[in-house]
Amino acid sequence: MKNKEPLILAVVVFFSLATYYLVEPYAHHILHKDVESKGFVYDGSDDILEVENIISGLQKTKLEKELEYKDASADEKQKLKTAIITSENDIAIQKVRLEKKQTFFSDVARIAKIKGDAVTGEAIFATCSGCHNDAGIVMGTIPPSLDNAGVYYTKNYLIGIIKDPVMISNVDHKFSVENEHPMASVKYMVSSDEDIANVVAYMQKIAISPEKVTPKMAYENTCGRCHSVVYEKWTQLGTTEKFKHKKDTLAAEIKVLEYEDSLKVYMGKLPPDLSMYIRSRGEHFISTFIENPQSQLEGTSMPRVGVTADTADKVVEYLKNAGDTKRHEREEIGRNVMIYIVIFALFAFLWKREIWKDLH
Ligand code: HEC
Ligand code: HEC
Repeated sequence: MKNKEPLILAVVVFFSLATYYLVEPYAHHILHKDVESKGFVYDGSDDILEVENIISGLQKTKLEKELEYKDASADEKQKLKTAIITSENDIAIQKVRLEKKQTFFSDVARIAKIKGDAVTGEAIFATCSGCHNDAGIVMGTIPPSLDNAGVYYTKNYLIGIIKDPVMISNVDHKFSVENEHPMASVKYMVSSDEDIANVVAYMQKIAISPEKVTPKMAYENTCGRCHSVVYEKWTQLGTTEKFKHKKDTLAAEIKVLEYEDSLKVYMGKLPPDLSMYIRSRGEHFISTFIENPQSQLEGTSMPRVGVTADTADKVVEYLKNAGDTKRHEREEIGRNVMIYIVIFALFAFLWKREIWKDLH
């Protein structure tokens, strides 16, 4: 063959495109579950569907065991019988859970329709300030400031966290009567529909407007009490300060380590540093993960934090700035390099033709 180059080029281009458009997206799809955002409304449809899926899975297993039972030997029959009874118990437990979730979310929907009165709400808010103050008392985590809770979190979520924090955060599998959520007692202090609607109206009234929320504020207030970001010098207790004396620096570090120890006990493990997560997981993962951690990491102890879509975008923006500070620069350089390579290839090709023209 006289002119092989175009063929070689075509092969290289073909495999590059196939890798880029077919193999890579496929691998991505296998590694990350395809989760779509539900619009950050927290109406419970996700949570209810999750339990329904668990129930139908259990029912399928039970049916399989019952079929096996028919032709099993006497020995096996005993084992299968135990397995069937276990499935039946599990199904009953999940059905109770399902009913609880349905009731809970219909309560939230009912309260959301009440027009709350911020003035009455202010007095009730004193109950919250008992824990949500700047005293820094550790109760699993340190209760975050509620000054702008009305803008960071959705109405459904704020209602839900008063009504039942483990339900709205979708971590009811992690807590029980023996191991209560630190806010579990609030539902007895603020229990009527009106009281809840009023205190939520108050929080929404005192909050700043969404335009004033910066990515940094969104992150520090909604994620920062659990996740450090070393690239931004953020610890779970605040931004690392510069001290004149080493003794003070060490004392601050010890405080953080001690807090991390209590986080480990509360959460079962230390929440990871989020400096690089935007790179390893990508925007879509982080955003849908915030909306419902269980959707991507079944059984995780990270609570749903109930942020609005706007807050979630700002959190993602913060993580993008932290983990990928050079991204604008990189995108620009990438484009210039591509232009350079194309022009260079053209010249190289013309030059080669000039040199070889007498030999061919
Ligand atoms: C007994 C102490 C206590 C009281 C009283 C209390 N909270 Fe909390 N609250 C906490 C703690 C602790 C957390 C952090 C929980 C965590 O990190 O898992 C929290 C978290 C929150 C969050 C943030 C949730 C998130 O996902 O970021 C909101 C909002 C909130 N509380 C609202 C309220 C409101 C409104 C009241 C009053 C009606 C109230 N709390 C009363 C202890 C309390
Ligand atoms: C009350 C503590 C708490 C809060 C608040 C919290 N997280 Fe987490 N987060 C955790 C814990 C615990 C884990 C580890 C979960 C696991 O591995 O099961 C985790 C894990 C993660 C992960 C890693 C997921 C993975 O694939 O391994 C990401 C990303 C994350 N959190 C993002 C966030 C963001 C963004 C926010 C704020 C919107 C936030 N978290 C708020 C406790 C928290």
